[in-house]
Formats: sequence, structure tokens, C-alpha cells
Amino acid sequence: MNSSQVLQVLGQPITLKLSGKIIPNRLYRSALSEYLGTFDSDNIEANGKPLPEYANFHKALADGDVGLICFGNIPVHRDYLQGPKNVILDASQVWEPVQALAPAIEAAKSKGGICLPQITFPGRQIPEHLNSTPLSSSDVQLSPCLGMTYGKPTPLSREGIQDLVKRFAWAAKTLADAGADGAVIHASHGYIFTQFLSPTVNRRTDEYGGSLENRARFLLETVHAIQKEVSTDRFVIGVKFNCHDFIEGGQTFEDECIVFKWLEDAGVDFFDITGGTYASPAWRGEPLSTYADFPSGPPGEGVFLRWAKEFKKISTRAIIGTTGGWRDRHYMERAIRMGEIDMCGFGRPLQENANFIKDLLLNKERKQERTW
Ligand SMILES: Cc1cc2nc3c(=O)[nH]c(=O)nc-3n(C[C@H](O)[C@H](O)[C@H](O)COP(=O)(O)O)c2cc1C
Repeated sequence: MNSSQVLQVLGQPITLKLSGKIIPNRLYRSALSEYLGTFDSDNIEANGKPLPEYANFHKALADGDVGLICFGNIPVHRDYLQGPKNVILDASQVWEPVQALAPAIEAAKSKGGICLPQITFPGRQIPEHLNSTPLSSSDVQLSPCLGMTYGKPTPLSREGIQDLVKRFAWAAKTLADAGADGAVIHASHGYIFTQFLSPTVNRRTDEYGGSLENRARFLLETVHAIQKEVSTDRFVIGVKFNCHDFIEGGQTFEDECIVFKWLEDAGVDFFDITGGTYASPAWRGEPLSTYADFPSGPPGEGVFLRWAKEFKKISTRAIIGTTGGWRDRHYMERAIRMGEIDMCGFGRPLQENANFIKDLLLNKERKQERTW
């Protein structure tokens, strides 16, 4: 296949079925924390307001022909950040959120792309220096990892869970009012929804623990609550979703397939497939070579492709993409042409070069070496 045929595949638009929104090509920017919000530990009420650079950053991505732009972590509670300088969506903030978010969303959509900001609650993965009393499914503390320590969590009460469900729904409605095409719920990498899905972290005995149905309840309630606020024929609900957490006794691929179908049936129209947690950061690539059961594919191919294509087989409607490790255009083209997945997502390549996708589509850059 020559390079113009390759580009025809990667440059082909695709339609999100429930909303009818069109993504102009098959290449997206997965969520990556931008850390471009205000932050002052002595004035937390004012934290998380987008700085002007936030809009400039997303304008550069739009100018780089990114078909779908996911903004990075936007915590839904200002006391529980993923990191300092996160943009925050919390109903009680002192600044006006619709006005504050609109410029970056407009910038992301300025060249005809779709914009799906990611909404998050870190649970027990909040760095201890930001908050030493986290909330989680249970009181299972995260051991030091990724160069940080984490406090012992308090199990969320039922009221606490319902408060978070409302916060996610409010954040989604606010994003819709600010012009976003939808939102991506962060249900991967060890954040709160994976803390409920994982049997090793979730030790609850109420209706949010035990069976898979119970462990998935909080996530599904969140999807339903968003739908009540913003209908899926106008607003895309996406989920960044683990195929596996690469932890013994944790989330298995078999369980994830069942939850995937529940989510799709509930109205999720876009999945960004990934894997791992802070304790086993598979999304960086390393565990796939350190776990003997999961040998790496060829360098430059998406590291989660083998699982993403299984989700695609059982999917009946949603668009399936996967992020992590894509560097070689010919592997991207092959996976999409074969119908194994619909889209390829990128993190670090776009961080290093906002024109990475444009260069791919212009046939300038065939391959970028992985940095691990
Ligand atoms: C600095 C940094 C920040 C990240 N922030 C987020 C985030 O906010 N939300 C998320 O879902 N993933 C986040 N990720 C993971 C990326 O979205 C992506 O899954 C990962 O980098 C693998 O893709 P890549 O090989 O193309 O970089 C982050 C990764 C990095 C390196």
C-alpha cells in the first residue's frame, strides 16, 4: 500500500452514532493533564481556573489537524486534585466555569475537530502532599509509587458516592454549556472507578462491592446521571477504559468485557482503551515487557491493540480507539484498515510536537521512536 492510500485510511472521517457528530480523521489526542489552571494553596476556592495558555495549547492541537481532542484530567472536586494546576470543575468555585472553559473548547474545535474533555476523581491516588485523607471504595492504601506517597483512604459513604455522581453530571452539563461535544469519564489508570471495579481495592459489602454488577454500579450510575443532564443525541459520553490493570487479583479482561457491554448499552459512544494503575503503569509501556504473560508487540504498534480489537469485536455501536505506544504510521493504518479498531490515540508524541498528526497525514513523519 502506498503512502497516499495509507493517508486515505487515517484521514477518513468517522461518525459517532448516537449524536451524529463527525470526527474528521482517525487520530486523536488522548487525555493528558495540561496543568494550565490557577493554583494557590492559600486560596483554594480560586484554584483550577484555566489560564490563557490553556486555550492557546488546544488551538495548537487543532491547527495540527487533531480530529478529536480530549482535554486532560479535570477533577470534579477541588479538594481532591489529580495534580497541582489541574483545571477544576466544581460547582462551588468562585469563577464562572462556562465562560472560563469556553475559549479552550472553541480553540479545540476551531478546525472542525471534536472536543471531549476528561472528568476525573483521583480517589486514593491523590498525592499525599495535596491531600493526606483521600476517599476511595475501601480503606486499602496505595503504597508509594511514581515517586509519590498516598494517604490511607476513608471508604466513601453512600451519600459520598451520590455526591460524586452529581458532581460528574454537573461537570458534564457545564462542559456542554461551554460548547464541548461531550466528555470522557476517566475509568482507567487506577482512578476512582477502577478503585470500585478492582476486587483487590474494593472490599465493600454493600451494593457497591462484591459482585461485578455491584462494583460497576457507581460508574453506570454516573453515566445515567450525565444522560439525565445532557442527552446522548447531543452530547457524547466517552470512557477511558482499562482492558486490564496488570495487578494480580485485580481487574481482568473477562470482567472488563462485561462492563464494556454494560457501558455501551447504557449509551457510551466512544471508548479510549488503555490499561494499568499508578502501581502498574502499563500505559507507559514498561509492564508489558516486564509481565511474561503480556509480551510486547512490534515497536511502534499500540500496546493495547490486542485487547482493543477484542472490545471492537463485541461492540455493536461505539467508536473504539486505543492509546499507548503508537509511533509507526503503518501499524496505525493496518489496524484501522483491517477494522480491528476505529481510531488511534496519542499522548506523548503530541506533547512533544503539536503537529505530530498533521505530519503523519502530510506523509512527513513515518515513525517516531518510543521514548521508553
Ligand atoms: C504527562 C502525562 C500526563 C497524562 N495525563 C493523563 C490524563 O490526564 N488522563 C489520562 O487518561 N491519561 C493521562 N496520561 C496517559 C496518556 O493519555 C496516554 O494514555 C499515555 O501517555 C500513553 O500514550 P502514548 O504512548 O501515546 O504517550 C498522561 C500521560 C503523561 C505522560
